[in-house]
Amino acid sequence: MKTTSLKCLFSLIAILIFSLANGQHAPKCDIEEDQSSSDLKIIHVNSPCSPLRPKTLTLSWEHTVLHMQSNDKARLRYLSTLSTDRSSVPITSGRWSTQNPTYVVQAKLGTPAQTLLVALDTCNDVAWIPCSGCVGCSSAVNYDPVKSSTFKNLACGAPQCKQKATGSSFPTQGLLGLGRGPLSLLSQTNSLYKSTFSYCLPSHKSLTFAGSLWLGPNKQPHKIKTTPLLRNPKRPSFYYVNLLAIRVGKRIVKIPPSAFAFDPNTGAGTVFDSGTTFTQLVKPAYIAVRDEFRRLMGNATLSSLGGLDTCYYEHITVPTVTFLFSGMNVTYPQYNFIIRSTQGTTACLAMMAAPDSGVNSVLNVIASFQQQNNRILIDVPNSKLGIRHEPCS
Ligand SMILES: *[C@@H]1O[C@H](CO)[C@@H](O)[C@H](O)[C@H]1NC(C)=O
Ligand SMILES: *[C@@H]1O[C@H](CO)[C@@H](O)[C@H](O)[C@H]1NC(C)=O
Repeated sequence: MKTTSLKCLFSLIAILIFSLANGQHAPKCDIEEDQSSSDLKIIHVNSPCSPLRPKTLTLSWEHTVLHMQSNDKARLRYLSTLSTDRSSVPITSGRWSTQNPTYVVQAKLGTPAQTLLVALDTCNDVAWIPCSGCVGCSSAVNYDPVKSSTFKNLACGAPQCKQKATGSSFPTQGLLGLGRGPLSLLSQTNSLYKSTFSYCLPSHKSLTFAGSLWLGPNKQPHKIKTTPLLRNPKRPSFYYVNLLAIRVGKRIVKIPPSAFAFDPNTGAGTVFDSGTTFTQLVKPAYIAVRDEFRRLMGNATLSSLGGLDTCYYEHITVPTVTFLFSGMNVTYPQYNFIIRSTQGTTACLAMMAAPDSGVNSVLNVIASFQQQNNRILIDVPNSKLGIRHEPCS
């Protein structure tokens, strides 16, 4: 199993490059026929187009939200393994633990193109796909290297082979890691995509819609708010930005500056992650935001749902929430920070407090719920992260 999958891992870069001119293959759920292979479709894992749709869909809304929270717990455990500070990594992180993806990308690989749905992960450097003949791979669809004229094996001495998967977790269907580490897929395809990409995540509610991932600088929007992109040596795969303050309603919430401080020594700061669902704020920041939100809710009866501790089982009028980043203020519509039940009778603030200890206790994570229906631009050469409202679902 390992030999085959490793071969696939190391040849993925070559495959991506050679599939550029090809790939007009139309799978069942294709909406647009004219996709090029640098313009990929993103679907939510629960979409009817997703064979990875979990059984939890039959659960109640409450249970679905609890399930999202337990996925986030696993995700954050995984993110803590991506710290260069090995001593702080929890030993419980399984070597081959599996992780449920939130969003999957329809990737066209090989010549002629084969279509695979792989997990999208902006904090992971690894690209991995299951190959046909792989013993022990549980994926329904595998990549067949024999059918690709551009498939190549790399020798074990190749630099890519130093890229270990230690402490990593593997979504069984394959992974498109778009992290920024030195041996990442992005770094290796730099001559082609210039370490530039943007994506728009479709709403978790509009399951029939697809968002998009654009690779390379060509198609990227020019009219977009941007903030400087920072690199933190402690956690080299992550996209860091400077979050300065948060406004709830008209008031800028009182948060100690240390809660948002970027620190290359501890890995503290604010990152964007596509794999976490609910935004996590370091504890004093979360408490301050939550308390101001609750204050504005006045007499509405407060309730909780798992780790979401600010829920209301009645109609509420929600204030605006603005995140003030360095050089860029982003005011979010309700659907980016309030999760509502299907009937709209229950509403929860879709944010959580970071844990009390460990490497994640100093990490603010702008998660996928807060990113949906926005285009997020990552421009590494110009050290910029952009955000533009874009209803992609
Ligand atoms: C809250 O309840 C009190 C007492 O019933 C009432 O006087 C007040 O106006 C209410 N406040 C809001 C914001 O509804
Ligand atoms: C963001 O909002 C703050 C507070 O209102 C303001 O001082 C600042 O100039 C704004 N920044 C930008 C880039 O608009």
